[in-house]
Amino acid sequence: MSSVTKIIITGAKGRMGQALLAGAAKNPGVEVAGQIDVGEELKSIIDRCDVVIDFSSHNATAAIAALCAAHKKAIVIGTTGHSEAAKAEILKLKAQIPMVVATNFSTGVNTLFWLTRKAAEILGPDFDLEVVEMHHRMKKDAPSGTATTLVEILADVRKLQLKQSLRHGREGIVGERTAAEIGMHSLRGGDVVGDHTVIFAANGERVELTHKASSRETFANGALRAAQWVVKQKPGLYDMQDVLGLK
Ligand SMILES: NC(=O)c1ccc[n+]([C@@H]2O[C@H](COP(=O)([O-])OP(=O)(O)OC[C@H]3O[C@@H](n4cnc5c(N)ncnc54)[C@H](O)[C@@H]3O)[C@@H](O)[C@H]2O)c1
Repeated sequence: MSSVTKIIITGAKGRMGQALLAGAAKNPGVEVAGQIDVGEELKSIIDRCDVVIDFSSHNATAAIAALCAAHKKAIVIGTTGHSEAAKAEILKLKAQIPMVVATNFSTGVNTLFWLTRKAAEILGPDFDLEVVEMHHRMKKDAPSGTATTLVEILADVRKLQLKQSLRHGREGIVGERTAAEIGMHSLRGGDVVGDHTVIFAANGERVELTHKASSRETFANGALRAAQWVVKQKPGLYDMQDVLGLK
């Protein structure tokens, strides 16, 4: 394989697709071998690339990943909002091809993931856990994939079953908050690229960890870095912490 990684972007006309194309134009380590959006066929061009980068739609990823497996191409998946069934279908392909799946490709957010785990471990069960995210008005899925990763980390540290613990917003006479709850709140408006805050609230003090993305460039550059990394890996499931060497 040459040192230049050949990429195909699915969802190329979207906000992230455009950010990826702009990032790729400035990155001598990658070459755009193809761009696909709705109505265009990946199958006829997939053999031109080393890796597909998917930022399309939660409905599209499973078929795109299956095509990658059939053609032995690596895949980087940034799309979020998949159903449990689609997620299972995608993840079973890890036996066949190397894949990076990350709800967020920014170095800052991956640091936030690390800090969230540490803070939850240090602060312990006296602190109530709430996650707040805000995104632009066009975002289709809620809560964000990043917020979901954050509550998964919190549930893992607290040894809570997420299905039972998660409280999406609150309305009406919901009763007192229990220690076993993890609150999740999705705000939507304007052109916000992506804000995430994890709140640890106890009697007498509160810790808040916040990340704010002001440009999609950070996600695009992270995904391009993941693409260059994943083509050198064995079949398997990897995340951005693997790519950044944080494990
Ligand atoms: N992981 C991350 O770091 C990260 C960052 C930002 C956004 N996202 C996620 O990436 C996805 C795209 O976000 P966006 O803001 O660019 O959305 P967008 O709506 O601007 O773009 C999505 C594009 O995909 C295209 N598309 C839909 N179905 C397709 C198909 N079957 N084949 C090819 N293209 C198809 C759409 O026409 C559109 O152009 C969302 O799921 C979003 O949550 C992830």
